[in-house]
Amino acid sequence: MISVHPSGQACGASVTGVDLSKPLKTDDVAQIRAAWLKHHVLAFPDQHISDDDLERYTMAFGGFGVDPFIAPIPGRNHVIAVKRLADETSPLFAENWHSDWSFQARPPAGTCLYGITIPPVGGDTLFANQHAALDAMPPAMRKRLEGRMAIHSAKRAYAPEGSYGEKDKAKGRSMDIRPSRDAEAIQLHPLIRRHPETGREGLFSCFGYIIGIEGMPEAESTPLLLELYQWQSREEFQYRHKWRPNMLLMWDNRSVLHAATGGYAGHDRILHRTTIAASP
Ligand code: SIN
Repeated sequence: MISVHPSGQACGASVTGVDLSKPLKTDDVAQIRAAWLKHHVLAFPDQHISDDDLERYTMAFGGFGVDPFIAPIPGRNHVIAVKRLADETSPLFAENWHSDWSFQARPPAGTCLYGITIPPVGGDTLFANQHAALDAMPPAMRKRLEGRMAIHSAKRAYAPEGSYGEKDKAKGRSMDIRPSRDAEAIQLHPLIRRHPETGREGLFSCFGYIIGIEGMPEAESTPLLLELYQWQSREEFQYRHKWRPNMLLMWDNRSVLHAATGGYAGHDRILHRTTIAASP
């Protein structure tokens, strides 16, 4: 029987009583989806799953998202490796808060990340609940954001001049990142928007993938977005996820931001990731 154990933090729960190496029953999918929408981040400990199982799980929750700029692992079209080797000195991947691929017209609803090689120390993933961040926001700050459209782009990260661009290649990163001019495209999304499944209002994405605010001069939008970033990532909105090998994590990009952390120099860290397509 599926049991859901809330983390006691601002979001996150652990789920037991299900074997993800086997196809899920319709009822199990419905229970997991309900828990996902309630807790935003679900951890499934002690799951011995293959890439086929990870893909089947992703399909059960809406199919694959489109993952640009990172090559899939050999033999797969939709699985990428989030990887850092013991002797690697390149900057950490995904250390800034973000919502996956928020610069797309239809950003992925969720992300699945499966821990294969997990270091004995460090490497936690942080999450920040963006419904809680909006609910607790001072009215004066909220007023500055109401009705505003954010301009999203991947250029600061994945353009040839971006942080994972040509200069990054020289640093010996083990992840197969493919910078491209495509990263310069822009996409608008409301800064405050309703979750498409629950209808609950929240903040969507943050400075980084958000490069400006429509109709606002950069000299005004940049300090506002940076102030917002500080607010969105406050500790009281956070859940700190501690990894164990063979753990699957699934989060909702529509309601949380996430950020990788370091602290495991000298140890490998390898996880396989898929994204779940936006619901039609
Ligand atoms: C990611 O943002 O997909 C990676 C998170 C992590 O490495 O903890």
